[in-house]
Amino acid sequence: MENAIDVNLAEIDNLIERKYRNNKEALVMILQDITGLYNYIPPQVLPHVARKLGVPPSKVFSVATFYKTFSLEPKGKNIVSVCTGTACHVRGAKNIMNSLYKDLKIKEGETTDDLMFTLESVRCMGCCASGPVIRVNKDTHGGLDQERIIPVINQYRDEKA
Ligand code: FES
Repeated sequence: MENAIDVNLAEIDNLIERKYRNNKEALVMILQDITGLYNYIPPQVLPHVARKLGVPPSKVFSVATFYKTFSLEPKGKNIVSVCTGTACHVRGAKNIMNSLYKDLKIKEGETTDDLMFTLESVRCMGCCASGPVIRVNKDTHGGLDQERIIPVINQYRDEKA
């Protein structure tokens, strides 16, 4: 599915010129800031960034695809990370994931059409005693089961931009 968004190239120009003074050494930080603006890096900005910095488009592309924190696919406003580490697995992480598949109608690694949620898995968040655990953005929620997960997600669903 295609979740095309409008990109404001003037805003990106402004960022590159004013904040980073067209410094090609700042490429990673520029891509971080673009991620901050759109929650991902819209692929159409890559050649534009390359032109502005005077570097080959292939260089921008390779940096944008090298770091796991960067994505060229749209991400949801809310990133739901389900812990699938051993302790959470034993405590029912699979049931949590299955409930989320049903509720959000997406699979792991996907984003809802309304760009509200992206579903991911992570390996141990360091709070195994509270498992199964999920993180939504910066909030951690533990002691979940397949029913209790739903109101947690609804909390974020109700928080419209
Ligand atoms: S295994 Fe899930 S928090 Fe450690």
